[in-house]
Amino acid sequence: MRFRQLSLALLLLSPGLYAQVARPTLHEALLAARADHAGEPGVAAAFRRLADAYGTPLYIYDQAHIGGQVDALRAAFAPRFHKLRIFYAIKANTNPAVISLLKAKGLGAEVVSRGEIETALRVGYTGPEIMFTSSSKNPGEIRRSIELGVVLNVDSMDELGQVQAEARRQKKQARVSFRINPGVDPHTIHQINTGVSESKFGLHLQDGIAFNAYEKAKAMPEIRIEGAHCHIGSQITETDGYVLTARKMLGLVKDLKDKLDIQLAFLDLGGGLGIPYEDGQTLMSPEDLAKALEPVWKEGVAAAGYEPTLWLEPGRFFVGGSGYLLTRVNTVKQTPLKTFVNVDAGFNTLIRPAMYKAYHRVRVIGRTQDPQLVDIAGDVCETGDILAEARTLPRAQAGDLVVILDAGAYGFSMASEYNARPLPAEVMVEGDKARVIRRRGTYSELFRNTGGSVPTKR
Ligand SMILES: Cc1ncc(COP(=O)(O)O)c(C=O)c1O
Repeated sequence: MRFRQLSLALLLLSPGLYAQVARPTLHEALLAARADHAGEPGVAAAFRRLADAYGTPLYIYDQAHIGGQVDALRAAFAPRFHKLRIFYAIKANTNPAVISLLKAKGLGAEVVSRGEIETALRVGYTGPEIMFTSSSKNPGEIRRSIELGVVLNVDSMDELGQVQAEARRQKKQARVSFRINPGVDPHTIHQINTGVSESKFGLHLQDGIAFNAYEKAKAMPEIRIEGAHCHIGSQITETDGYVLTARKMLGLVKDLKDKLDIQLAFLDLGGGLGIPYEDGQTLMSPEDLAKALEPVWKEGVAAAGYEPTLWLEPGRFFVGGSGYLLTRVNTVKQTPLKTFVNVDAGFNTLIRPAMYKAYHRVRVIGRTQDPQLVDIAGDVCETGDILAEARTLPRAQAGDLVVILDAGAYGFSMASEYNARPLPAEVMVEGDKARVIRRRGTYSELFRNTGGSVPTKR
């Protein structure tokens, strides 16, 4: 015990020295890779253990990181917002083992599809602990949500009418909140910028559109109005967008109370908290955000004359930094223009670099020498399948392991079997133990539902 405490202190003070002198646990090796010590022999041995046991490409999650992120968010918000409820946006990582961890920390589930509702139920959530947000819900999704008592974040007047009709058919009241488009630009990547006026999401505050929706809903006996919801985007790195949004949303809260006598149980300010994807990157912390929102909230609540519960629903913030995508080098190729390190993962495994031009840190395992400017290229037959572009990394060769950091959010959950490559396995690391939380896909699964089957050996 004493040795472990000493070695942990050494790891935190000097990860490189620690990695050289000790045999790190799997958890410590993950931390050391983050601290850019993936070249050290002890750290490399830990990653090789994982690759040997479970194969590559492999998603690895650090359980301690997920718990730590929940604690950090709660520590920042709970003292300032006495009525607070936190949800986990399960789309970020839908593995039941991951969701279970967040459920055990007391978080609700925010879902975007019937499949995510079923996943949440399987993990043990009940309908009232689930909130469903989507700009395009099908009739089956509306029916199931009302049956279960899920909160529906209604996105259009068309949807409101359908919800009303279904609730009437079920002789129930639907629990409704409206998703609001506040017309705020949080300055993030275009594809995940959802709060701007031109986005497809929500009822606009502008021209009283959202207000009118509440007025109509109030007259519907099948609808129980519970709250107001917004989510202005993902990977947000500064507080300004949130502050402006909170101010506008609290303005709506006041208007609803003053003019329609509607009192909301909650105001949901969404998720979107960014995480650092680059070495040395500093960005808004939960503490920064909570501090920036506190005065606006107090002022808005005082003006409205009552306090709704503040709801938050991050996804990436809880799980992004917990994830590591371990991949093996197939070949290294020098062209007249570039050096490509061709690995056995691609945009079928991690789509963020190809889809958003997103940056992920990359470490070569067990190598420290001879830095080279390289592209880490995926194994999908498309020119755009580059996982990391123009990186200076220690020279890698065929058979080496490479790890891509911060792959825990929108990694596996966006993975596909494109190019007929089975889905990767996922493991959860706790201390020095790893457990499989999703076995590797098989070649037979590529033919599922088509009547064919082939041997599963690689
Ligand atoms: C409605 C809604 N809530 C929450 C989230 C979670 O976002 P993030 O993972 O950036 O926190 C998303 C992500 O797209 C979303 O669409």
